[in-house]
Amino acid sequence: MWVGYVQLGPRFGDVEGNIERALSLMEGERADLWVLPELFSTGYLFASREELMELAEPVPEGPTTRALSDFARERGCFIVAGVAERTGDRVYNAAVVVGPEGLIARYRKIHLFGKEKLWFDPGDLPLEPVDMGGVKIGVMICFDHFFPETARTLALKGAQIICHPANLVLPGLGQLSMRVRAMENRVYTVTANRIGVEERGGEVLSFTGGSQIVAPDAVVLRSASPDREEIGIAEIDPTRALDKRVTRYNDLFADRRPEFYGL
Ligand code: ACM
Repeated sequence: MWVGYVQLGPRFGDVEGNIERALSLMEGERADLWVLPELFSTGYLFASREELMELAEPVPEGPTTRALSDFARERGCFIVAGVAERTGDRVYNAAVVVGPEGLIARYRKIHLFGKEKLWFDPGDLPLEPVDMGGVKIGVMICFDHFFPETARTLALKGAQIICHPANLVLPGLGQLSMRVRAMENRVYTVTANRIGVEERGGEVLSFTGGSQIVAPDAVVLRSASPDREEIGIAEIDPTRALDKRVTRYNDLFADRRPEFYGL
């Protein structure tokens, strides 16, 4: 199967334009599974929770999930993408999983980074892989990579591909740790990061690009520039992620010693 990342430089608040650019990048290539950045349709650096509430949208009724579902139906593919999800008086840094039949699953970021703690409600859904035509995919968002438990939980529950919408700002760290997350869990990882600079509310953030697709042996199959909107695709064999053997004598999951891991 073919997987791909879409590396985008969202313009803050231009939901329609950001969706259009992401779709036009994907139109140029075919992939079975696309991953888009965290909060790709709104931008990242909110000035207040009120501003976020205005830009956030209900899932699946909002414009972002609808546009992605239409694309997935037309192209017969699956898409994982970051979206600001509003429901009642709550708002989540979320990711949707859509396929030809529409919304399949959603994830709400459980480890909020920096000022996200002021804007978003913390995620409240379990880490649960999603069946995508016989292949299990897991979803985590950006800063979740600092918590190895996130990828580990998804992998122990059977995820073969970990999709990682991101807005990484600490140079090189997310790219490094997602190689390790792939290696220690023997899974594929697809990180879709954003590029560009946002300057709002007296703050400036630079996003690091470097989106990447990593194989279960930590080999980087494809990686992007630090500063251009681009896509990257790679052919993968997800059955490789079912085999946790490292040597003849070592199976990463069977060799775990959870009786030593408790506090
Ligand atoms: C991040 O979690 N967006 C750094």
